[in-house]
Amino acid sequence: MRKKITVIGAGHVGETAAYNIARLELGDVVLIDIVEGMPQGKALDMFESSPIFPFDSKITGTNDYADTAGSDIVVMTAGLPRKPGMSRDDLLFKNLTIVKDCIGRIAKGSPEATLIVITNPLDAMCEVARRVSGFPRERVIGMAGILDSARMRSFIAMELNVSVENTHAFVLGGHGDSMVPLARYSTVAGIPITHLLPQDRIDAIIERTRKGGGEIVALLKTGSAYYAPGLAAAQMVDAILNDKHKILPCAAFLKGEYGISDTYVGVPVQLGRKGVEKVIEIELTEDERAALNRSADAVKELIEKFPKDLG
Ligand code: APR
Repeated sequence: MRKKITVIGAGHVGETAAYNIARLELGDVVLIDIVEGMPQGKALDMFESSPIFPFDSKITGTNDYADTAGSDIVVMTAGLPRKPGMSRDDLLFKNLTIVKDCIGRIAKGSPEATLIVITNPLDAMCEVARRVSGFPRERVIGMAGILDSARMRSFIAMELNVSVENTHAFVLGGHGDSMVPLARYSTVAGIPITHLLPQDRIDAIIERTRKGGGEIVALLKTGSAYYAPGLAAAQMVDAILNDKHKILPCAAFLKGEYGISDTYVGVPVQLGRKGVEKVIEIELTEDERAALNRSADAVKELIEKFPKDLG
């Protein structure tokens, strides 16, 4: 039987994720939004493009959670995006209400689903989804590290004028200004960038990576990035549904790994059919560990602001 993937939110990120998942033929896609007609229209347009490429996935648009029942994976994108001058954290309370509502409904009809959260502020919204769904931590995962490391890879490729395919980048920490790009573990054709670039250029790449989302927001003026976030979600769906045991940087709920407990933070994880199969622990220098702790503390600060009734 074909897999069923629901994408909640048919805005920029949701439609991009849905279209990529469908084009990669990862399963049949249900696109749900509160706006009437819009998800139906986008889904129909996407389906009508399928004979051209071609790809063979059903895409359905809906406003009714009954249509999402029995989903294998749910990609959560509903919520407000940033405007220029806003940090992701400024979205906390509005998006908390939306995530609580959507995940509460979805968990009833799809109790075995794996949740991939994209709504910002990402790490805190993962925790909302985990608490509201009651799902184990293996099945509530945040999409951030793939995006942040893809940004860093793009900047490395631009700087050295090499193919993006030769690049690899490592970014840990929360999906915010405190994220921790690791130059030592970032490579071009296997060679660490610390051997290829002077420190000031590496620092510039790290800074641009940290502010990568804000750079797009400032240019767009009316919303935030969606091509890279949408495709990154599709990569996670692929790793899970095809049981790839693939190591990808994701936001995971830590229980002592890296000396951090009871919070989401970006770390390398192994993704397969059961969701997070393993948190991969790599050796960190004292400075890197301190930066990761600071990043985790920034996430915890947001979680402490949650209303008491969230549990
Ligand atoms: N249920 C379903 N859909 C909802 C709900 C809800 N309760 N509330 C809002 N939405 C929908 C909106 O109708 C809109 O179509 O969420 C969609 C959001 O789309 P955009 O405004 O285009 O935002 P987008 O760029 O997709 O970003 C969504 O992802 O990367 C993050 O920071 C970003 O939090 C933001 C989220």
